[in-house]
Amino acid sequence: MPKVYLDNAATTAVRPEVVATMIEVLQNEYGNPSSTHNIGQSSKAILEQCRKDIAKMFKAHPGEIIFTSGGTEADNLVLRAAVRDLNTQVLITSPIEHHAVLHTAEALAQEYNITLELVDIDIRGAVDLAHLEALLEQYQGQKVLVSLMHVNNEIGVILPLKRVADLCKTFGALLHSDTVQSIGHYPIDFSEIPLDFAAVAAHKFHGPKGVGFAFIRRGSGLNPMILGGGQERGMRAGTEPVYAVAGMTKALECAYHHLEQEAAYVRSLKERFISGVSALPGVRLNGGCGDLENSTYTLVNVGLPIDPAQSAMLLFQLDLKGVACSQGSACQSGSSGGSHVLQALDKVGVPMMPSLRFSFSMFNTPDDIDFALESLKSLLEPSA
Ligand SMILES: Cc1ncc(COP(=O)(O)O)c(C=O)c1O
Repeated sequence: MPKVYLDNAATTAVRPEVVATMIEVLQNEYGNPSSTHNIGQSSKAILEQCRKDIAKMFKAHPGEIIFTSGGTEADNLVLRAAVRDLNTQVLITSPIEHHAVLHTAEALAQEYNITLELVDIDIRGAVDLAHLEALLEQYQGQKVLVSLMHVNNEIGVILPLKRVADLCKTFGALLHSDTVQSIGHYPIDFSEIPLDFAAVAAHKFHGPKGVGFAFIRRGSGLNPMILGGGQERGMRAGTEPVYAVAGMTKALECAYHHLEQEAAYVRSLKERFISGVSALPGVRLNGGCGDLENSTYTLVNVGLPIDPAQSAMLLFQLDLKGVACSQGSACQSGSSGGSHVLQALDKVGVPMMPSLRFSFSMFNTPDDIDFALESLKSLLEPSA
């Protein structure tokens, strides 16, 4: 059976160079990086070199890189610690954030009795910057934390991060960005973009699962959420998985080393998919994912002319043909309510349709795209 993996926004295959790096570290560097003997210090040296290398890629300070178990933990760490430690009174986010942000924000609003505002989005799924500015003006003088994702994981729309960061700065608000779908795919310069916090997950850029980092700008005043041995400069207790951190660092190095070529290639796959899928009757591209300038080159979200009850079946039938894609994001595929991102679009006048997300990587080929399109076509038009 063919194996066509078009679910790269859920997770990516690990690069062979990354696997090799991790095996090398696993085999040879078993010391606990907090141990003071030579074997421990050798692990510590790798960990700290990784921190420095990562910091350099984003023009950050090594102390601003806090290793975590991935994107969810980084989002939770930043939002929870910022609300608890910085007297945050107002939390502004959007209805299309990943649940790692949205559910955390909702829980914090209840636990700390703070104001939660959701900024409007337009029919492309882009954040309405005029509404954001109006909210920032309304709450000026209060402690405001804004959390807006850089690249949306379901519809791919890109936030103009520098503009948003400048806007937040103008109004004295702090900014956190979930950059899980953008880091490793777009260059980001933290010295130029005045955001305060960011969340990153290695498995979205051909690194291992279960590791990521939080960018926490120096002097932000956050305290740890996980207490224990005082690792990660006191910000996140727990023995660091040195091999996984080394794998993440290698994955980032590879990603940024080949970025232009690989991005152009993946973008050509997206274009091929869009031109094929657009020829199918009744199919729609959801949100702004067809706009190649303002959406990520890594994914498309397609509305399909089928009965909602059939969409899970379609996903299953595609899987049977050997095509892996997803309904909304991976974390929602088991839930019955449907995508909260598509629901948010519905509220601004884009009626919800049964939808599938196809997401691409440099491990895909044009043949993969053609096979997926053929499979989709045969399922939508069985008699054709
Ligand atoms: C935008 C976004 N944020 C956060 C996460 C969660 O990251 P992790 O799986 O590393 O916890 C994901 C993963 O699906 C994501 O796409």
